[in-house]
Amino acid sequence: MKKFYLTTPIYYVNDEPHIGHTYTTVIADILARYFKSLKYNTFFLTGTDEHGAKVEEVAKKNNFEPKHYCDFISQKFKQAWELLDINYSRFIRTTDPHHEQTVKIALKKLYEKGLIYKSYYEGLYCIHCEKFVSKEELANGKCPDHNLEPILHKEENYFFRLSEYKDIIYKKIESDEILILPLERKNEILGKLSLGLEDISISRKAVRWAIKIPFDEEQTVYVWVDALINYLSGIDYFKLENSNLCEFWPADLHIIGKDILWFHAVIWPALLLALEVPLPKRILSHGFFTVDGKKMSKTLGNVIKPKQLVELFGVDATRMLLISNFPLGIDGDFSINELKERYNKELADNLGNLVFRTFGMLEKYFKNNFSPKRPSYETKQKLISCIKDYKISFENFNLHKIPHIVLSLTSYANWYIQFKSPWVLFKENKIEELLQVISDILYCIKTSALLFYPIMPNISKKILKLFKTDNIEENFSFLLENFEIDIKELKIEKQEILFKKLI
Ligand code: MSP
Repeated sequence: MKKFYLTTPIYYVNDEPHIGHTYTTVIADILARYFKSLKYNTFFLTGTDEHGAKVEEVAKKNNFEPKHYCDFISQKFKQAWELLDINYSRFIRTTDPHHEQTVKIALKKLYEKGLIYKSYYEGLYCIHCEKFVSKEELANGKCPDHNLEPILHKEENYFFRLSEYKDIIYKKIESDEILILPLERKNEILGKLSLGLEDISISRKAVRWAIKIPFDEEQTVYVWVDALINYLSGIDYFKLENSNLCEFWPADLHIIGKDILWFHAVIWPALLLALEVPLPKRILSHGFFTVDGKKMSKTLGNVIKPKQLVELFGVDATRMLLISNFPLGIDGDFSINELKERYNKELADNLGNLVFRTFGMLEKYFKNNFSPKRPSYETKQKLISCIKDYKISFENFNLHKIPHIVLSLTSYANWYIQFKSPWVLFKENKIEELLQVISDILYCIKTSALLFYPIMPNISKKILKLFKTDNIEENFSFLLENFEIDIKELKIEKQEILFKKLI
């Protein structure tokens, strides 16, 4: 059986889930549903990143013990994903004892192989990025991402021999052995790598809320090393839980934002090479987005929470609108007003109205007596080309295109209704012709409902109920392989409105 292992980043618990985390997680869920429906043995990992100075600081500010604070925020992430119908296979927390053990095993291995050594480090450290930053990276002396001055930090740390892996990683990225998508990001990483690669410090003396270095209790593990290893502990790579999940390795896809690409494309592969663990196959890096043209920030008060979107649009529409607002690789913008406009136009007027009026016509013209015809040549061609585009877009992870591709089918069906005017055919008693038109429209509706399944699973189920179709995954894979479906039975009854129009 083919397998597909995909991951989101694990999210810092110093912040409650917002639209940024939601975007990454929804993308992962859609891909997981797609591969699962195509009968891949799919494992989808997400979770929370809970150690480090930043978390300790925020917990203290809120009068919490760090672990209690982590429990609290981690739960918020779980609730958000439940709200959004995120069907993850496992939710990992870096405070899980099993994860901590995995990190210790990995570090011990590196130490025993002589790939870790002790040395002094002095530099500017941004505690919000949890990393040392160079002077060149700063904007007016401040971290450009957090608008805060980094602190001068000097201590004796353990270092990982990252520099030894520069050439090999360069080659693996250049040859797409580690495929970085989109291409511009691959070139950015290659450009940065060609400037050189220094060893990195992987332990901290001052940070206490972290995993202890197994061979030196005075030091703790650098949070990024701790965090990256979640991708191994999440599937029990070292078989500590006596599971057989480790067969999922190597990861087929790490989905991340562009801000953390360096860690995933360079540091992570180097650690894996050092551990003699096979490398992940692909890294999909999405852009950063703004809200109404402004950077999202608590100070500006423009942080969009997933709950806000779900209350306004419902779960399915939220998922669909999020992923299709701009191409995955580039920076984009969200504005609630624009999303509302798209919701009304694409979901209420196009898809929702199509289902409503078609089943209305069925009830009016055929009552309980409808025996569908095979699709006409032109509808069949339209269906095939839509399914082909859909598959190509999924294979290339061009997720933003997919809703537009499926909606092109419902637009076609809406146009077809106007063009063929079934009410005239009914009036003129051209029943055979009327049967053909309605059948064609029904094929479009059923196909679009199946194709929308990974993105809008609940709406898809609702529409497919009208076709008395329960086994969605089975029908989905059949459609994608054979480019056709059957309409056997229908539930002809008055329709509820799928998407209420927003004002
Ligand atoms: N904990 C690390 C990841 C460790 S993975 C081994 C981390 N966490 S995070 O919570 O800060 O960010 C997680 C993800 O959310 C990143 O992929 C990041 O790109 C994404 N986003 C957070 N804010 C975002 C936007 N405003 N726009 C797009 N994505 C954003 O980094």
